[in-house]
Amino acid sequence: MHPRTPPARPSTTPPSATSDVLVVGGGVIGLVTAWRAAQRGLSVAVVDPEPGGGAAQVAAGMLAAVTELHYGEQTLLGLNVESARRYPAFAAELTEASGQDLGYRACGTLAVALDSDDRAHLRELHALQRRSGLESEWLSGRECRRLEPMLAPGVRGGLRVDGDHQVDPRRLAAALVVACERAGVTFHRAWAERLSVVRDRARGVVLADGTELGTDRTVLAGGSLSGRLGGVPQDVLPPVRPVKGQVLRLTVPKPYAPFLSRTVRAVVRGSHVYLVPRENGELVVGATSEELGWDTTVTAGGVYELLRDAHELVPGITELPLTETCAGLRPGSPDNAPLLGPTRLAGLHLATGHHRNGVLLTPLTGDVMAHALTTGELPDVARPFTPRRFTAPSPVPPPTTPHFTEQHA
Ligand code: GLY
Repeated sequence: MHPRTPPARPSTTPPSATSDVLVVGGGVIGLVTAWRAAQRGLSVAVVDPEPGGGAAQVAAGMLAAVTELHYGEQTLLGLNVESARRYPAFAAELTEASGQDLGYRACGTLAVALDSDDRAHLRELHALQRRSGLESEWLSGRECRRLEPMLAPGVRGGLRVDGDHQVDPRRLAAALVVACERAGVTFHRAWAERLSVVRDRARGVVLADGTELGTDRTVLAGGSLSGRLGGVPQDVLPPVRPVKGQVLRLTVPKPYAPFLSRTVRAVVRGSHVYLVPRENGELVVGATSEELGWDTTVTAGGVYELLRDAHELVPGITELPLTETCAGLRPGSPDNAPLLGPTRLAGLHLATGHHRNGVLLTPLTGDVMAHALTTGELPDVARPFTPRRFTAPSPVPPPTTPHFTEQHA
């Protein structure tokens, strides 16, 4: 997700600083947990060398509960739909709390098919969506092009989903940092080295420079690195793995605008490609999905495949300036769903494993974690996502690859 970084700067925090809640990882999931917990009157600290970094710096920010529905993920669907439902109020509240615009855009999504196989796949998805009580409308190719004139003439049909929107994850992360600061959250800009466990209870973390941070409630929210914090007993270590995604950013010059009015996506030769147009002219094209461990190299092949597939959907894309290429690591879990709330180790909570849905699940995760941290229980909506559902030892690979303290959470 990120290059190796220099050793942690010495913390300015006195040894044995304490807080009610200590969040390890300052990506959007850690930050929203911290913000919501602070709003409930808890004293909160976040440990991360670069709060607001993490996978959100790469993510496109689709809020695609309906168009990213997959077979076997109906339980996760309920969580995704509920978080999407909370997004407008969450975005308004966070904008107010931070004074920053999140780039939240109720633009809808169009999923299209380029050939008869794609069309059959989309028809299946449409049927699944209908059976799941979701709103989506089947359109002919001509109707798709009427909505989005830049689409290729060969588009064979599509699904119009007016409820799948977008947010700008970089702005979301920046706004959460400010909201946390304004709510009194303390930031320790350092790497967490290991969890402190005293008499079978998590008691905080030790930083890379030896500083001890004490707490009753430690939240491990380190994204793909969550399984790599030292000192966590094996049976509660979250079984998350990095799933690489390469993403491109292009710019739509003013004369071309509006290039696309909504998110456009497709499955091309089995690979997902999506184009997410921002109001400021940025066009995000994503994403590969690669099981390559901790590798975050942007490859010629990844860029080529994304551009090739995007070009098949929207041929005019090759006219646009390519302004950025990047790669990040999704925190994948064994069932593609997050791990939320208390673990079997007293005092240790998890908020990780959000895989493809971290940005979408940010509002709900904040609410769920604040509830769990104040009551010790998960609210009903999140009960299926307890970390306790994974009883087997973690499949996290041995520490020959970057340690938790060497990459961003
Ligand atoms: N949710 C989009 C992705 O993970 O690529």
